[in-house]
Amino acid sequence: MWYVSTRGVAPRVNFEGALFSGYAPDGGLFMPEELPQLDRGTLCQWSTLSYPGLVKELCALFIGSELLPKDELNVEGNSDELDEPIKTVFADVAFVKKHNLMSLNSINWSRVLVQMAHHFFAYFQCTPSLDTHPLPLVEVVVPTGAAGNLAAGYIAQKIGLPIRLVVAVNRNDIIHRTVQQGDFSLSEAVKSTLASAMDIQVPYNMERVFWLLSGSDSQVTRALMEQFERTQSVNLPKELHSKLSEAVTSVSVSDEAITQTMGRCWDENQYLLCPHSAVAVNYHYQQIDRQQPSTPRCCLAPASAAKFPEAVLAAGLTPETPAEIVALEHKETRCTLMRRGDNWMLMLRDTIEDLSRQWRSHALNTSQ
Ligand SMILES: Cc1ncc(COP(=O)(O)O)c(C=O)c1O
Repeated sequence: MWYVSTRGVAPRVNFEGALFSGYAPDGGLFMPEELPQLDRGTLCQWSTLSYPGLVKELCALFIGSELLPKDELNVEGNSDELDEPIKTVFADVAFVKKHNLMSLNSINWSRVLVQMAHHFFAYFQCTPSLDTHPLPLVEVVVPTGAAGNLAAGYIAQKIGLPIRLVVAVNRNDIIHRTVQQGDFSLSEAVKSTLASAMDIQVPYNMERVFWLLSGSDSQVTRALMEQFERTQSVNLPKELHSKLSEAVTSVSVSDEAITQTMGRCWDENQYLLCPHSAVAVNYHYQQIDRQQPSTPRCCLAPASAAKFPEAVLAAGLTPETPAEIVALEHKETRCTLMRRGDNWMLMLRDTIEDLSRQWRSHALNTSQ
């Protein structure tokens, strides 16, 4: 399996190449050159698998081998601000090669690949039988910020999973505006919300979605993304926009709606939602309140409420902290804070050089 950059300039790489990289050297994102197509028989076989079994099968379609990263910096800023120095570091091909760099956020194909398993697992959970023709449809509501989970769902749909996608964002609504109006443009500033992991202005995985929507057209994708990088504002071409709005529907959810949803879910089910999951569940409540007839629906729940006690309190609920997490709070923290005004790019490079030296001397000692 070969991986190509969505911008079409960087040479193609194998899975290992895509795994040990972040952005492609031309600034694009890696995507499989061709997507496999799953037939009904494969879906039926997969429907009885455990979650790990499902991940294994999916990975077998796309991979050869895998490794793990390490992170020792703590940043005083948001995801968008960190994304810039990361992008600069990854654009230095020699540096990336020398240190075998990879990034395990959704810039990296391997994360998107594994996220696809959520969609398959959710689908099988919501379909008691796959004996019908056509296969039953399931609506998957995807809370997202950088559009990683959305890209994963869209690829799952493309390779044959009968799902309908709803993308749910917080008040950082660039994806929502893009789906609704083709308005792929930055707002003035990133907004802090209760669903903080989705406080993202630049949903970089939309590049993967655009590439797929355009029929793997790297020229169209490159022109679009370069315009976005230059002007921070793109009006999607009409055809691309109508394809996007056919493929997904969208919703943007306020903090107030997040806390209301958390409260309602607790009252009705004694289930504590994390604020990100609540963004998705809010869409569900909107639909049932309007008594819209619907297909079975699944809301992806990306985190435990235990990670977000402030949001739980804001919803007027009582945080529940599992003992394992309480234990973590008393452990020593080893990190270097990346303060505002520091040279983050240099700090990233120095940390990587440092880790690399430590690993090399560890490897040398072990071999001796
Ligand atoms: C808790 C939580 N929710 C949602 C997301 C959104 O992921 P994405 O924007 O890649 O879809 C993340 C990303 O790390 C997350 O940590």
